[in-house]
Amino acid sequence: MENKFNHLIDMDDYSVAQWNELVELAEKIKANPEEYSEKCKGKIMATLFYEPSTRTQMSFQAAMIRLGGNIIGFDNPSNSSVAKGENLKDTIKIVSTYSDILVMRHNQEGSAKAAALNANCHVINAGDGGHLHPTQTLTDLLTLKCELGRLDNLTVGLCGDLKYGRTVHSLVKALACYPNNKFVLISTPALALPSYIKDFLISHKCEFTEVKTIDECIGKLDMLYMTRIQRERFDSDEEYERQKNVYCLTKSKMQYARKDMIVMHPLPRVNEIETEVDDDPRAAYFRQANNGMYVRMALILKTMFSSPRIKPLLTGEIHNDVCCTNPKCVTQTEKYLPHSFVKYGDIYICEYCDERILK
Ligand code: NCD
Repeated sequence: MENKFNHLIDMDDYSVAQWNELVELAEKIKANPEEYSEKCKGKIMATLFYEPSTRTQMSFQAAMIRLGGNIIGFDNPSNSSVAKGENLKDTIKIVSTYSDILVMRHNQEGSAKAAALNANCHVINAGDGGHLHPTQTLTDLLTLKCELGRLDNLTVGLCGDLKYGRTVHSLVKALACYPNNKFVLISTPALALPSYIKDFLISHKCEFTEVKTIDECIGKLDMLYMTRIQRERFDSDEEYERQKNVYCLTKSKMQYARKDMIVMHPLPRVNEIETEVDDDPRAAYFRQANNGMYVRMALILKTMFSSPRIKPLLTGEIHNDVCCTNPKCVTQTEKYLPHSFVKYGDIYICEYCDERILK
């Protein structure tokens, strides 16, 4: 049977059956890690982190080491040729010939797809700006499965920075594909979920409501997903200052939550969950971070040994005379990239960063 675990740029690169397969494999690895300790012997994984990271980077590295493989890479691009002005294409072209799998985090939206276009091995998106973060979503799916025993029939509250929080974007897109999941979006209007994700919910006939406070919905939730306000993505410090302390989960708010609700957070936490909540058995965020390593072991195993990609990476119309209007899109600086747009009615969507463009 053909193994189809190729590049992971967005969750929809894999089918729901494949997500389930990864979660099941991660559960098996978690129960019996020794059995997998030699599976990647002689293999190399490159981790290229252009942006800060603790959990994602180290859990990927620990995952590869626990599979018996080796790692190369950088976590500070200023120590690499990037500081000399090397473009993404050249870095990826070279590093992907040194390694069997490449994991990249980058500050520009759509950078993971841009990297995959030029890679000689499978690329895994470990976060592309404020856009997507699929391996955090795999971590979240494993956590829901371990904690609540299911990925469907859930009422999920997402709180905080829904605009720039890439973990939220990938998670919503994934959970919308399981039956009967409902979403409560808890944010200020300035940090609301982007329209392209709301459109995704509408097209998947998923129920969602938008509210302003945790208090008005916490009692109805199976899971509350808290997020950090993404300071580094704001255009001005003043705007960040206005948004930064709006949401904080406390012990007193937890009194109104159901006994079987869980609290998740991709971490790092700044001040959106009081440390007093940590001892509540419903606080699942540290267990969630631990799950990240097991699901990444599963992902490395599946992608490492899969056949080369057949599906083309760009499927839209190429219009090199049209520029994406998102200033954070990778096409703004990586000038060699074909400008590819997918057409929906009168709207064109940038195939790298999902920005809507009226042509
Ligand atoms: C998240 C990220 O980098 O997007 N962290 C993570 O990967 N665990 C969330 C965040 O930085 O707030």
